[in-house]
Order: sequence, then C-alpha cells, then structure tokens
Amino acid sequence: MEKILSLCNVLKKFPDKGVVIKSVNLDVFEGECLVLAGANGSGKTVLMRMACGLMEPDAGEILFRGTPISRIRRGSVGMVFQEADNQILGETVAEDIAFGPKNLRLPKEEVQKRTDAALSAMGLAEKREYSPRRLSGGEKRRLAVAGVLAMGCEALVMDEPFTNLDWQGVRQTLEVVSQMKAQGKTLVILTHELEKILAFADRLVILGQGGVRDDGKPTDVLDKLNPNWGVRDPRSSYATIADCTWL
Ligand SMILES: Nc1ncnc2c1ncn2[C@@H]1O[C@H](COP(=O)(O)OP(=O)(O)OP(=O)(O)O)[C@@H](O)[C@H]1O
Ligand SMILES: [Mg+2]
Repeated sequence: MEKILSLCNVLKKFPDKGVVIKSVNLDVFEGECLVLAGANGSGKTVLMRMACGLMEPDAGEILFRGTPISRIRRGSVGMVFQEADNQILGETVAEDIAFGPKNLRLPKEEVQKRTDAALSAMGLAEKREYSPRRLSGGEKRRLAVAGVLAMGCEALVMDEPFTNLDWQGVRQTLEVVSQMKAQGKTLVILTHELEKILAFADRLVILGQGGVRDDGKPTDVLDKLNPNWGVRDPRSSYATIADCTWL
C-alpha cells in the first residue's frame, strides 16, 4: 500500500508544558482506517493537527505523498473536530459546505457541484436550506464531514467523533465512516471509545508518554495492552447489569 501521510521524528513542545510529542514516526497508508488511542493528554489531537497542517511541529517532518504538508493544497487532509459546532461557518447547510471550496477560489460551478455532491453523500440534501444550528448532533457531524469532503480531502481525521452522541448519532457517524471506507478514503479516528469503531479499523495505534507505544492489528495490540497506557480493551461482555461498570 502507498503511504499517504508520513510523520518523521515529529516533536512538539509548548512553552508552558514542555515536550508533549517526543519523537513520533508514523506512516498512514492509502485507504486504511487507523484508530489512534491513548490517555487524555497523550497528544492525539496535537499530533493530528500537525498531520493536517494546522499546527507546525518544532522538529521533524510531515509528508503528504512525499511532499511537505506545508506545501500541499489546504484541505487535502481534512479534520473534523470534536466540537462540530465550532466548525459551523454558514447560515444554511449548503452555504456551510460551500464555504471551504469558495475559500479555495474554485469557480462558482465547481463550488456548486462539490456542494451538491457532499450534500447527497452525507444524506443532507433535504436539509440544504436548514440553519446548521437546527441540526442534531449527529447531523452536525455529517455536515462537518460534508464540508471537509467538498474541500476535496483525500484523508480525513475525526477527533472523538462519538462524544456526546446518542445511539442514533453514533450509528449515523459509523455510516459515514463506512461510506468513506467504501470510497477508498483514508481515515484516522481519534477516540477512547474503541468498542464503537474497532470493527472498521485496519490498524490500532496507541500513543503515550510522547510517543507511539504500540502499532498493529487491533487484536494483536489489544492482546498485549499495557494498563499504564490508559486504554481499555473493549472485548469484555456486558451480559448482566452487574457487568455494567468499568470498576
Ligand atoms: N495550545 C496548547 N498550548 C499548551 N499546551 C497544549 C496545547 N494544546 C495541547 N497542549 C497540551 O499537549 C498535551 C496533549 O494534548 P492533546 O490535546 O493532544 O491530548 P489528547 O491525547 O488529544 O487528549 P484527549 O484524549 O483528552 O483529547 C496536553 O498535555 C495538553 O495540555
Ligand atoms: Mg484530543
């Protein structure tokens, strides 16, 4: 498989925090679904903001198909943030989706074409004139994905896509993941909720103490999970009420 993203010796520090990403080497391959897990504060969001070109590393290099991410057209690697509300930019669903392609200074017809395609891909065509504020949490997440798709992203990073979603919202989000996978898009999913997504994952990467702690097939990684990494193996059952606790 071809590498779509390569993070080479990436280091990130913050003045008040010190080094949060020590030296990360990670390749993401075309068309795979990679789940990135790790304790709160392990650096998942920071690492992927850098991978999308939204934040500069202090050392190391991030390549998109071999070219530094800073030289790549904006939106090639899209990121859907945890708070979908923060990504809303338009008065209507359609305007919101058109915002990105307009910013890329694409011709009007192309903006229209991409908006329509993203609306229908994400099942939002009937809501094109709605105010985004009136959408449900799951629909807002779809809208965020539609906006990123309309930018022409080839890879998509979803940061905690299940947070605060009800059962239906989680299902809608998983349908999006499944559609994107079927279209051959590369997906990186940052989450603590492994039980919702591992069925779609080709790879599980654990981040901790500033670096990659493990990387491999989900089963293999879970089989040798270190409790210090702050990740819970979801392969346990909740057969009875007495099992419904994490303690
Ligand atoms: N802009 C910033 N300035 C200073 N420190 C930051 C900044 N952004 C992140 N950090 C710090 O970097 C570390 C990694 O944060 P990050 O948000 O990447 O963690 P995370 O793995 O995504 O955690 P969570 O699971 O809670 O989302 C944390 O200690 C955080 O406080
Ligand atoms: Mg995070």
